[in-house]
Amino acid sequence: MLPAFGIHRISHVGLRVSDLDRARWFYIDLLGFVKVERSGDEIYLKGVEEIQHHSLVLRKGSIPGLSYIGFRVSRPEDLDRAREYYRSLGMPTIKFKEKGVDEAIAVEDPYGFPLVFYYDMEQIGDLGLKYNLYRGAPPVRLSHVNISLPVRDLDQALKYYIDDLGFILTEYFLGEDGSKHAAWVTSYYKHDSHDLALGKTIGANPGPGLHHVAYVVYEFRDMVRIADILASSGLWDSIERGPGRHSATRAFYFYIRDLDGIRVELFTGDYVILDPDRWKSIVWRFDQARYRSDFWGRPIPDRWKEIKPVESIVMSGMKPLEGYSSMMPTIRW
Ligand SMILES: [Fe+2]
Repeated sequence: MLPAFGIHRISHVGLRVSDLDRARWFYIDLLGFVKVERSGDEIYLKGVEEIQHHSLVLRKGSIPGLSYIGFRVSRPEDLDRAREYYRSLGMPTIKFKEKGVDEAIAVEDPYGFPLVFYYDMEQIGDLGLKYNLYRGAPPVRLSHVNISLPVRDLDQALKYYIDDLGFILTEYFLGEDGSKHAAWVTSYYKHDSHDLALGKTIGANPGPGLHHVAYVVYEFRDMVRIADILASSGLWDSIERGPGRHSATRAFYFYIRDLDGIRVELFTGDYVILDPDRWKSIVWRFDQARYRSDFWGRPIPDRWKEIKPVESIVMSGMKPLEGYSSMMPTIRW
């Protein structure tokens, strides 16, 4: 089955932050993001290996959370195909512009997530061998975004991501009831462990939520360096979980919180799928709960369940968010 339009890869993320100067300090001075430019109430950032104009946009907002997730489409004509596809679902797209991107479309997708699609972004060059400019970790490139879908049945949602958008299902967790509780999907072009991690939001009237944004770092030691930098800055509460190693994705992880409580993961060492068309999804049963998330690591803290709201493209402001992520369904040991 051919996807409705071609998605090249996940490209960038917009976050709402309450104080741009504080966010600049955290993301640039402490973590080591490359500052590209500041424009009004937005700061454009990227990792040291990214050639494109930006992969992270910090936008001032009264409620912190996810502003949008950006994807590059495969060909220019895929923008029209995306427009047609979402129109057929009764979800009209709007024109979207940002620094470095003149032509893009934005849509609130069937699960309430604000998505931006573009083909052309300005290329400004990476830091290359300018190691003298590296600081913090540094973040290398955007890895993935982890979101919580307001659904009871993740299988239904996976039809959208896999059949319609063309992602590959790399791995999934089964809950106690045998249904899928979390899933990892990757694009054919990027074909590492995932572009998106999909969990479920639990509650009486749950909304879509952001769990975390993840950046690749070169090595495990870079996570320890960030832990040292955060502690030296008095930000002990920003250290949330890890470092450790996931079984799913096989990568090393370290989860921190920014000054608005938005969760950022530093991530390294996942696999690459050499033959995406031959990949067999890895299944993790509920009785493997002890180690499917942590091959090794300390117990998961309670606040791991917390998620952040998601901005609405249709109505301005953030969508109400009730509930918490079920990415890790109350596992204790
Ligand atoms: Fe992650």
